Amino acid sequence: MITLRPTTAADLDFVLAAEQTDENAQYVRQWSRDRHWQACEQADERHWIIWDEATQRRVGYVIVLGVQDPDQSVLIKRIVITEKGKGYGRATLEQVLSKAFLEFAAHRVWLDVMAHNERARHLYRSLGLVEEGLLREAVKTSAGFASMWLMSMLRSEFMARSASLESVPSP
Ligand SMILES: CC(C)(COP(=O)(O)OP(=O)(O)OC[C@H]1O[C@@H](n2cnc3c(N)ncnc32)[C@H](O)[C@@H]1OP(=O)(O)O)[C@@H](O)C(=O)NCCC(=O)NCCS
Repeated sequence: MITLRPTTAADLDFVLAAEQTDENAQYVRQWSRDRHWQACEQADERHWIIWDEATQRRVGYVIVLGVQDPDQSVLIKRIVITEKGKGYGRATLEQVLSKAFLEFAAHRVWLDVMAHNERARHLYRSLGLVEEGLLREAVKTSAGFASMWLMSMLRSEFMARSASLESVPSP
């Protein structure tokens, strides 16, 4: 359904427009064009365009940091889907988790999410990420201070989940 391909300079207008639109800006922090480009070039970071193979269109982007982290703790820094509610977020995160644990040898994958971001929190929980704790009123937004949930998945949890999904018989 979707593939993750490296973001190029020609994609940055799309990325910035997606990040800055109100429906996303209320949930994700804002980066400069330079910071996005840095993530495209740095060995420790990955910046991918989410590409819908069926329609041959960009449907979002995702950023991962710490792929060379000495503690093998990989951060899903940001995900933005421009066509919400169609399963793109779930499909993207399934691929990101596989890459993190199988390609980057992560021991732990983590992220933070604003407490009022119910859609994202539902999605992360349903993928098996565990809530670790609440960072109370940790970020300043235009609507006031927002609390952030820290969430993570350990390698053992990813392997157990993969094994249980494989053992489900096909219909
Ligand atoms: C959060 C986001 C990445 C999810 O991607 P998506 O493609 O919209 O998500 P999906 O369609 O794959 O799945 C959404 C899930 O949330 C559920 N959902 C939708 N609205 C919801 C709500 N208000 N409360 C709880 N769950 C909700 C859907 O039912 C679906 O779950 P299901 O598959 O169990 O039915 C995307 O909506 C987005 O870009 N949001 C704005 C930016 C953002 O919040 N980024 C994450 C910051 S941590």
